[in-house]
Amino acid sequence: MWSSIAEIGRDPITGGYRRFAWTEADLRMREWFSGECASRGLDLIEDRMSNQWAWWGDPDGSAAGGVVTGSHLDSVPDGGAFDGPLGVVSAFAALDLLRERGRAPGRPLGIVNFGDEEGARFGLACVGSRLSAGELSREQAHALRDGEGLTLPRAMERAGHDPDAIGPDPERLARIGAFVELHIEQGRALESAVGVASAIWPHGRWRFDFHGEANHAGTTRLEDRRDPMLAYAGTVLAARAEARDRGALATFGKVAVEPNGVNAIPSLVRGWLDSRAADEDTLAAVVAGIERAAVARGREEGVEVRVSRESRTPVVEFAHGLRDRIAGLLGGAPLLPTGAGHDAGVLSASVPTAMLYVRNPTGVSHSPAEFAEEDDCVAGVSALADVLEGLACQ
Ligand code: GLV
Ligand code: MN
Ligand code: MN
Repeated sequence: MWSSIAEIGRDPITGGYRRFAWTEADLRMREWFSGECASRGLDLIEDRMSNQWAWWGDPDGSAAGGVVTGSHLDSVPDGGAFDGPLGVVSAFAALDLLRERGRAPGRPLGIVNFGDEEGARFGLACVGSRLSAGELSREQAHALRDGEGLTLPRAMERAGHDPDAIGPDPERLARIGAFVELHIEQGRALESAVGVASAIWPHGRWRFDFHGEANHAGTTRLEDRRDPMLAYAGTVLAARAEARDRGALATFGKVAVEPNGVNAIPSLVRGWLDSRAADEDTLAAVVAGIERAAVARGREEGVEVRVSRESRTPVVEFAHGLRDRIAGLLGGAPLLPTGAGHDAGVLSASVPTAMLYVRNPTGVSHSPAEFAEEDDCVAGVSALADVLEGLACQ
């Protein structure tokens, strides 16, 4: 399975992946998912959000609900091979292992591929799961645009899907008794091959617009300039200081400049802040501090600053019952929190949800250098099979 998706959406120069929602690469990954379902005789259902669900057993046929595993197949710009696909590939491999063990689940077993988890194209993460869980309305989703100005509904239509059908899907989520997402660890906190998630830090994305005045780089005296790049640069430094002082994280990883000419003072610099912290109050304080710094730097440079929140995901504390049961099934696997967002976090408000992590020896993620040892991935599959067996076959 790993080698059959290795080349899909891969940049030949960097070796990173560009599997963005509704692009050719994304559609090829979805086709791959359908093929894996067909070859195992699983029933494939694509929901109104185009999340893909494969079922072994009838999801309507169990009072306790099905046990679902899976993850996502899209990527960040120049993403690694493991963030997302490891959870989906491991789901199919764990199902194969259960069959090899001769175990037939007493509860239906599902494998899911959630669409648009990374939000790389339309700016909002976990669109597929947020829509299903009713955390994102159809109107809000319809207003999302990519970098070229193409709206999410038009992109869906071009890929042959009906954007008017999207919206909350409580009946489908009600069929799930437990959701377990396996994921590569995205830091270096996990020392054993497999661990269990305890919590996801609250996090969000904010857009900072710095409006200045375009002018000639060769003729405009420094004292006459209203240069938004200076206000932006000061804000980036202030973000680092805020995060460091409060034990949080703050990153400006995406920036757009207009007119983006080497010999012109910019008229607009737009920077996107991603900020995360262990608790809600710290995150609010960090972002408020960065906003204050942006306004102050803007005032110094004669630049107008506007800040808009693009997403905000509250803290997730995974249900202790399921989490502890899974850690027990794995002989006392370590518990660890993460600063990374996941569909499992979104779903945790509606469904008992847990996560397994596979060790990441370098801690690198959202980069072509992301890596996990094959032995650890195999240990992850075996752990996932044990968990599915414990939850669905007893
Ligand atoms: C998703 O990977 C996120 O944490 O942004
Ligand atoms: Mn990711
Ligand atoms: Mn992921």
